[in-house]
Amino acid sequence: MIIKSADFICSNTQISRLPIPIKPEFAFIGRSNVGKSSLINMLVQKKGLAKTSQTPGKTQLINHFLVNELWYIVDLPGYGYAKISKSKKEDWNKFIRSYLDKRESLQCVMVLIDSRLEPQKIDLEFCSWLGEKGLPFVLVFTKADKQSSIKTDQNIAKFRKAILATFEEAPQHFVTSSETLLGRDEILAFIDNINR
Ligand code: GTP
Ligand code: MG
Repeated sequence: MIIKSADFICSNTQISRLPIPIKPEFAFIGRSNVGKSSLINMLVQKKGLAKTSQTPGKTQLINHFLVNELWYIVDLPGYGYAKISKSKKEDWNKFIRSYLDKRESLQCVMVLIDSRLEPQKIDLEFCSWLGEKGLPFVLVFTKADKQSSIKTDQNIAKFRKAILATFEEAPQHFVTSSETLLGRDEILAFIDNINR
């Protein structure tokens, strides 16, 4: 897929204010600081489109970006950010889960996982929830440039093994780096295929 345009459309804290659901939508989610906003910018090759930060918890809204005037990338706030209050976490849970569960134009949830880490309980639980809801999702392992490919492969194998405790088949996965563009063509081809 060739990216001709990518534009910020809106930020939301209310489901009722989201764009009308007539264009296919791909949501990017994962732990706080996993690299969601960086990956979005890398995919569309537009630095600064989605705001990135070294401080976890930067993205706090549902952000819609329109690509090629045809489909949306949705940048979601990260989960598992320790420094926010319990009640804020609960609000996050309600808001994001109701968006994911009810959004009729949502095609696939892209679950970002830090490729440097051993399987994290919070990621596995989130995948289980997606499975329970019957929501289609894929795994996107991020920051692969930060360690050897052997280490990345080991962590992916461990995650796949852990997820097979809940799922009959491991979901499709991608290995990415926002620094080196690793995985960009594969993810865009995957999205293109669904949009056809
Ligand atoms: P929140 O919105 O706070 O949940 O974070 P996020 O998941 O959107 O992460 P963000 O894209 O802001 O990236 C967090 C930090 O990781 C930033 O300092 C990025 O520069 C860095 N980062 C993200 N992706 C990569 C990557 O592929 N490689 C390297 N080396 N650094 C990355
Ligand atoms: Mg972000």
